[in-house]
Amino acid sequence: MTNVLNLQRSRNSHDQADDQLFALLPRYEGRAPRYTSYPTAVQFTPDVGAATYAQWLAEIPADEPLSIYIHVPFCARLCWYCGCNTRVVNSRETIGGYVDLLSKELDLVAGRLGDSHPVSHVHFGGGTPNMLSPDHLDALFGALRDRFEFRHDAEIASELDPAQLTSEWAQAASRNGLNRASLGIQDLSPQVQAAVNRHEPFEIVQRASGYLREAGIEALNFDLMYGLPRQSVDDVLTTLDQVLTLRPQRVALFGYAHVPWMKSHQKLLPEAELPGPAERLHQSLAAAERLQDEGYVPVGFDHFALPNDPLASGKVRRNFQGYTTDGAWTLLGLGASAIGRLPQGYVQNQTGELAWRQAIAKGELATVRGVPLTDDDRFRREIIEQLMCELTVDLADLCARHGRDFSDLAPALDQLAEPLRDGVAELTGARLTITDLGRPYLRTVCAAFDAYLDPAATRHSASV
Ligand SMILES: C[S@@+](CC[C@H](N)C(=O)[O-])C[C@H]1O[C@@H](n2cnc3c(N)ncnc32)[C@H](O)[C@@H]1O
Ligand code: SF4
Repeated sequence: MTNVLNLQRSRNSHDQADDQLFALLPRYEGRAPRYTSYPTAVQFTPDVGAATYAQWLAEIPADEPLSIYIHVPFCARLCWYCGCNTRVVNSRETIGGYVDLLSKELDLVAGRLGDSHPVSHVHFGGGTPNMLSPDHLDALFGALRDRFEFRHDAEIASELDPAQLTSEWAQAASRNGLNRASLGIQDLSPQVQAAVNRHEPFEIVQRASGYLREAGIEALNFDLMYGLPRQSVDDVLTTLDQVLTLRPQRVALFGYAHVPWMKSHQKLLPEAELPGPAERLHQSLAAAERLQDEGYVPVGFDHFALPNDPLASGKVRRNFQGYTTDGAWTLLGLGASAIGRLPQGYVQNQTGELAWRQAIAKGELATVRGVPLTDDDRFRREIIEQLMCELTVDLADLCARHGRDFSDLAPALDQLAEPLRDGVAELTGARLTITDLGRPYLRTVCAAFDAYLDPAATRHSASV
């Protein structure tokens, strides 16, 4: 009964705050980066290649904790909304060859690092990491543990496609230390699934969650999406009705990023049936309200966590997967297209899987682009990261810590004059805070501190 009441309220009500929020939409719905890094990937250039990466690795101080990201660019199916770097591959040999090369890449990277780097976090992303067989998992974890010492409290997480998950995979992953899993769900409505070529009843999600929990992997994250073709507020809420019965620890609520100029298969979607900005905002607000009614705490602009989850109760950082509690400053990226973050800057591997294979097979690092960090980048990155994670930043404190004059921020504050007038953000002394009203427009506020952003020259996905 409670659910029904909640649904009625979320689906139909419009209070004054909503009216204010919708009135702001035309001014703030623009396109802005997701700020999973700063500078963003648009600023990466071929000036940073394998030689620079090798030098940066060698300079990392001993004992510096490491985080590792491993990209698995294989899927059993192609979902037409997908923005990830992946392709449909079902051959065990092709995947096995890739796993062998990942071990080789680990050697190439570890050989350039000094000894004794504890690993605090490992993340398998994709694509679909559960396309690896249990044998592949054993081999890959063996290679990782041969070269690095995992901290006893290391978080070892993987993205998963629930439709491909087997009980054997969950058992093998757990045996190897996996302790967090993110399940792609998106939307369970049949007409949305038909529009995006992803057919998956709730029972599949239920079964996958059961396999993971039976294997002892209790920390489950669910990925949901809004803004998909044919999707309505009702569909978003009905999906939540179903999946929240499984009580995941975290929910990521991603706004569909429509970037057909980068992902040509997105042209297969019925573009005319994509919801517009106002409908997208309705969907995200209704979902956020529903999640909070169910006890989830909002984190940043698109994540929600149960109060006892570290994401809700600890220090949050921004990374390429969204939000994390991972405190390591150094992230090693392995596999095709993987991005690494080092104290000196960002590096990215060959995006194409075949080009990545060729480089690693020849015994070379596969880095093809990146960006070194300037002091100004570090300063702006910290402002943007604090805003993205905590929705508030003490600008005077940041200026003092980075040896900057407050007047250096004058151009950014000029740009923020209108958001401040509109109540999207508040400036109290030197503390800038995103208001509840401004939360959906967080990326647009962060963009004021981005020294590189040229809205006319770059194309990003919709910011709401
Ligand atoms: C790399 S995918 C891995 C999930 C797994 N392969 C699956 O589909 O179940 C991680 C998540 O990214 C999100 N995602 C993929 N394409 C997206 C897009 N174009 N816009 C926003 N989110 C997207 C989806 O929520 C997806 O579950
Ligand atoms: S959403 Fe997941 S399964 Fe679908 S194509 Fe993307 S990575 Fe593959």
